[in-house]
Amino acid sequence: MAFELPALPYPQNALEPFISAKTLEFHHGKHHKAYVDTLNKLVDGKPEEQMSLEEIIVATHHDDSKNAIFNNAAQVWNHTFFWNCMAKGGGSEPKGDVKKAIDHDLGGLDKFAKEFKEAATTQFGSGWAWLVFDAGKLKVIKTPNAVTPVAGGQTALVTCDVWEHAYYLDYQNRRPDFVQAFLDHLINWDFVAKNLATAMEKAG
Ligand SMILES: [Fe+2]
Repeated sequence: MAFELPALPYPQNALEPFISAKTLEFHHGKHHKAYVDTLNKLVDGKPEEQMSLEEIIVATHHDDSKNAIFNNAAQVWNHTFFWNCMAKGGGSEPKGDVKKAIDHDLGGLDKFAKEFKEAATTQFGSGWAWLVFDAGKLKVIKTPNAVTPVAGGQTALVTCDVWEHAYYLDYQNRRPDFVQAFLDHLINWDFVAKNLATAMEKAG
């Protein structure tokens, strides 16, 4: 098999009460796994079998004939990234370069939280809210369905999955409450700091 489902970086119950073990059991064990399994079937015997997820995403995102490969590769990447965006005891305040960049580019933590929540709650239907590093600056963006900043040359710093499968068992239709819990109790600023450091290094 070309691609494998990575293990969650914490036990299934680690994010309770904000995300239940049941949600992670389905979201990781069924949804994420299904993207991995489907991708493996789609790339079987094709050049993409030898490529990294990032290479597949970049190579297929403008090619309608490869839409299914793009969607599944992007969803595998997005979910693997998303698990690491959360941690038990997350949601405290960013420090160091992350704090500086949020203050400078987004007007401070409160404004970031407001903008991120707005992006997450106004994404119509399924999709993702992101904090990205783009041309030397932090930006909050939203993407529909499987679309990922990896395709467009932006560096993802953090994301929140706003597909219904991410929150429906715990929050039913209350997406804003899920996003608020993500910001207040789950967001892993250490992971954001690591991603920003890598992005800044690459940008020189
Ligand atoms: Fe998801």
